[in-house]
Amino acid sequence: MGIARYDKNDTFIDALTSCVKEEVKKIGAEKDVETMVTIKAASDSQRQQNTQVKELLAAGCNVLCVNLVDRTDPSEIIEQAKEKNVPVIFFNREPVKEDLAQWEKLYYVGGDAQESGVLQGELAAETILENPNIDRNEDGKIQYVVLEGEPGHQDAIIRTEEAVETLKASGVQLEKLGYGIANWGRAQAENRMIQLINQHQNKIELVLSNNDDMALGGLDAYTKLNRTESSIPVFFGIDGTTTGLEAVREGKLAGTVYNDKEAQAKMIAKLAATLSLADDKEIQQLPQQNYAPYAKVTPENVEEY
Ligand code: BGC
Ligand code: CA
Repeated sequence: MGIARYDKNDTFIDALTSCVKEEVKKIGAEKDVETMVTIKAASDSQRQQNTQVKELLAAGCNVLCVNLVDRTDPSEIIEQAKEKNVPVIFFNREPVKEDLAQWEKLYYVGGDAQESGVLQGELAAETILENPNIDRNEDGKIQYVVLEGEPGHQDAIIRTEEAVETLKASGVQLEKLGYGIANWGRAQAENRMIQLINQHQNKIELVLSNNDDMALGGLDAYTKLNRTESSIPVFFGIDGTTTGLEAVREGKLAGTVYNDKEAQAKMIAKLAATLSLADDKEIQQLPQQNYAPYAKVTPENVEEY
């Protein structure tokens, strides 16, 4: 199996690919097949990823797993794979339907972006309705900012929209103060948050972050600026990374939404096994799109994760 990652510095993708490796090993042992997994990372360049895919194919991999750099630009990879008749399992960065229709041996494994946004919105609504003191200035509205992932990523735009819509539908009055694009990264989020704090001072009551790493970066900003506990807003993330879960346990994050890497890794490994070992009939029955459910994580249930 060849795995192509969009970048090497991504906490969630790092954890997910480790899980995939483990699952492949497990299935190999069960089916008594030798397995080999090669992982490459593309420092956020689609051209570099295309070259890496070429290398993985040349090295003779039987299945490709691709975490696209640019999810709207998979054509070259599809062409190369088709030429060698090697199936491609895209994961986490979802190609558009038209591209998945380019060939029958293309698959997708990930989470449902809409679901993760709805669940984050529900978590935030539950917390706000139970804790009226979150509305610090008592104006009946929650002043909020958003820490956003990469523009163009399905998990950035959709998560934000769905979380905000869900909060509104739950009867929470909102006022958006601003947003910062931090491309999923903790350090970038810290910088964006420092700007937002300088702009809005202690008016910010809620931070919705598209992932845990950026929520943690937002919290880092408050630490760096030496802000008192009472001026720190409530934070919500998505992923349930090791550090994210730790922050929920410590009460620094009010909640997160579990991006089920174990389930996704199982789906990827199972698909790969069927694609390389089963007969055509079984292969034809495989679903092209595969989504693992998300789940809400709160201080009450965090020990289960
Ligand atoms: C995760 C982010 C990650 C991104 C990478 C998202 O699903 O929530 O943490 O950085 O995928 O593509
Ligand atoms: Ca308020």
